[in-house]
This record gives sequence, structure tokens and C-alpha cells, in this order.
Amino acid sequence: MEVIIQPTYEELAEVAAEIVRDALLKKPNLVLGLATGSTPIGLYEALVRMHRTDGLDFSNVTTFNLDEYVGIPPNHPYSYHTFMETHLFNALNIPAENRYIPQSTTVGHEEFCEWYEAAIVDAGGIDIQVLGIGKDGHIGFNEPSSSLGSRTRIKTLTQSTLEANAPHFGSTVDAVPKMAITMGVGTIMDAKQCLLLASGESKAVAIANAVEGAITAEVPASVLQMHPQTIVIIDEAAASQLKRVDYYKQVYANKQELLSQDH
Ligand code: PGA
Repeated sequence: MEVIIQPTYEELAEVAAEIVRDALLKKPNLVLGLATGSTPIGLYEALVRMHRTDGLDFSNVTTFNLDEYVGIPPNHPYSYHTFMETHLFNALNIPAENRYIPQSTTVGHEEFCEWYEAAIVDAGGIDIQVLGIGKDGHIGFNEPSSSLGSRTRIKTLTQSTLEANAPHFGSTVDAVPKMAITMGVGTIMDAKQCLLLASGESKAVAIANAVEGAITAEVPASVLQMHPQTIVIIDEAAASQLKRVDYYKQVYANKQELLSQDH
């Protein structure tokens, strides 16, 4: 696992955006796996800036979102459909027919989940999957105890996740949808590259468990240790419980030096 530690949230967002930009310049029909939540907002802002100021072209890009709540309509102010529209889609030129987000209803959900998995395969698979991490170590809505081989399906959210998302639903846990449709851990592991982003001290334990702990369904993000191309991009606060901070910084510095010699 490559761990990139940046001084601030803004800088980690910039590093993540540069990785996406470089991949897009190499492959205009990039397939992006996208995440919601507060963490990727800086990455999305940086991509919008690159589109507006540098003409970074998204017209051949396809996107697949990780998850969506069930039980609220897509146009609900806190649905992930609305989140993506607000933070990314309304500012980029990704064709509407290339943007996939899990449905927000349980009706026909098994067929839908199979169709979603097939759509990812038909698109050629996900090139870069953006991920946040929950305080409990979840990725997507794959809560602790999720099968590490799971595919897209309905999951019940943990109390910790309901509490974390309550501020979006009038601060009452009872108003937060109890379930979501989420890509599985196995679906995420099929992506060619994963970018796991985390910021702030509240994520420090989850990051330490995911990066340096045992691989366990108790911390679904820990399975990324088995992924051949995962980059963990975090700020100093999220890195504060890691044991090998100096080493990760050395690895990154050496890599930058190698890259500069290449150019
Ligand atoms: P956050 O959510 O980015 O809002 O912290 C991350 C997650 O729960 O996966």
C-alpha cells in the first residue's frame, strides 16, 4: 500500500486530483468509481477547477457511484444523486448516460444489483475507485462484518454510520435511512486502482487499523492491503495513529525524486 501524507486537507485533495487528471490525460474514456461524503469534496472541487481553467475533458468518462440510501427519492436534498449533481456533475461535461448511481428503492433490488455489476464489467471495469472511510472502517456502505468478497447488494447501516450521517437528516438518527445499496467489497477490489482518502483526527484509528492492522471483515477497508494498486492519501491528523509515518514519507519523497529524474 502506498501511503501519501499531506500537511492539510486541501493538499491531499490536490494530490488525489492530480492522480485522476494524469490518468484521464492518458485514457480519455476513463471509468471512475466515485464516493460521496465530506472527504471527496475537495477532490471534486479540484477536478471542476481543472475542467474550467485547463479544459480537462470529461466527455468520454463513465462514472459509477459506490452507494445510495434506500427509502429516499433521488431528488431528496441528501440523496447521493443530489450530492453528485451538486458537487460534480453539474459542473463537468460527463454525459448523463455515462453516470451510474445505485437506485434508491428496494423494488427489484436483486435484479438491479446484478445489472449494476454487469454495467461495470460492460464499461471495461473501474480504472480508479475513489473511497472515503467510515470511523468504523467501512468502505462504501460495507459495514464491519461485511464479506470481503461481497458484491453490490443492500446493507443495513450501523449505529455509528447512522450517527455520522444524522446531521444531514435534521440531526435525528431516526430520520437517517437505515439501509443502502452499495457496491460490495469484492466489487471495489476489482477496480484497477483505489484511492482511499481520509482527513482529520476522527479517522486516525480507522486509518491505522486499515493500513497497519490485521486484514479482517471487522475493518472492511483493511482488505485494501491485498489490492495491488491502492494509494491512501491522508492529512497529518488522519495519519496521527500510524506507526510508520516516517517511512511512508520517505517512500513518497523517494518516489518524487525518481519521477523528477525520469522527466
Ligand atoms: P465522510 O464519510 O467522507 O463524510 O467522512 C466517509 C464514509 O463514511 O465513508
